[in-house]
Amino acid sequence: MTEDHPIKTIGLLTSGGDAPGMNPCIRAVVRAGLARGLNVIGIEDGFEGLIKGRFRPLGARDVGGILQRGGTILQTARCDEFMQPQSQREAIRMINDAEIDGVVVIGGDGSLRGAQILAERGITVVGIPASIDNDVFGTDICIGVDTALNTIVDAIDKLRDTASSNNRAFLVETMGRLSGYLAMQAGIVTGAELVLVPEVPTDVEGVVHTMEAAYQRGKSHCIVVVAEGANPPISELAALINSRELGFSTRVTILGHIQRGGKPSAFDRLLASRFGSKAVEFLTEGKTGVMTGLHGSEVEAIPLSVVFSQSKSLPMDQYEMAQMLAR
Ligand code: F6P
Repeated sequence: MTEDHPIKTIGLLTSGGDAPGMNPCIRAVVRAGLARGLNVIGIEDGFEGLIKGRFRPLGARDVGGILQRGGTILQTARCDEFMQPQSQREAIRMINDAEIDGVVVIGGDGSLRGAQILAERGITVVGIPASIDNDVFGTDICIGVDTALNTIVDAIDKLRDTASSNNRAFLVETMGRLSGYLAMQAGIVTGAELVLVPEVPTDVEGVVHTMEAAYQRGKSHCIVVVAEGANPPISELAALINSRELGFSTRVTILGHIQRGGKPSAFDRLLASRFGSKAVEFLTEGKTGVMTGLHGSEVEAIPLSVVFSQSKSLPMDQYEMAQMLAR
């Protein structure tokens, strides 16, 4: 956008794995856009819908009643096809045909890479980080993380009830792809006996020892939170543990996609509303190739080049604290 060509029409898509809070974010982009006199076009099914031109206008009423709903009313998809230059050219043709002057991309790591490709091809674009994995560098937190964490906490609290009543150990697998963030946070706030994350090599004999020691100290349960990217994976770990005499009998629970669903928490609704409103502001200011990032209490425009300049690391001080508190 330039002074001569102000933004008149915004296109908006959600992409990749859905995250609770995408709907309040859609609502915020639409209403912030309308408040500035812009047209807003919803692009369905992420980048796939962009390539195919699956567009529909979004008005204030189209986004009524979605603030409290999980998922995304625009649908989402993972789209490998968008990595092909021909598909990118097709997407740009669709954007130009629909006279879209600025695009908002809501999604995780892969989706923001798609946003960067659009920006490199001259499209005005702002990304919004939404992924339960919290693996996007450049923002303290992504939309969806808080809700997923609350879902995990609720599940582990329930598992602890049954574990304590039966003198059992539970291995509980959380999502997060290659990030142990959700597992670590869940471990801290549920008081898990152990947390296994991809960022720290698992000392399998150490796990066995910790579980045995917990039993010998008279604990009635033992909760081990295992991030999905941890090595060895939960199935191998369970087989090994079951082959040993630990005192506890062991059960495995894989939380899976329930972590992605459900009503967005108050925190996620607020974050989504702030990110969505800011993304529109950034577009109208002429910013492009940036992402909304939360730094402390401020929402800032973070260049996508910075976002992809390094990977987000696990806060090791918190990891060590989780271990220290789990005695
Ligand atoms: O990136 C979000 C996420 O839920 C990861 O935590 C998980 O590894 C992956 O998506 C699951 O993907 P899918 O929904 O395609 O099975």
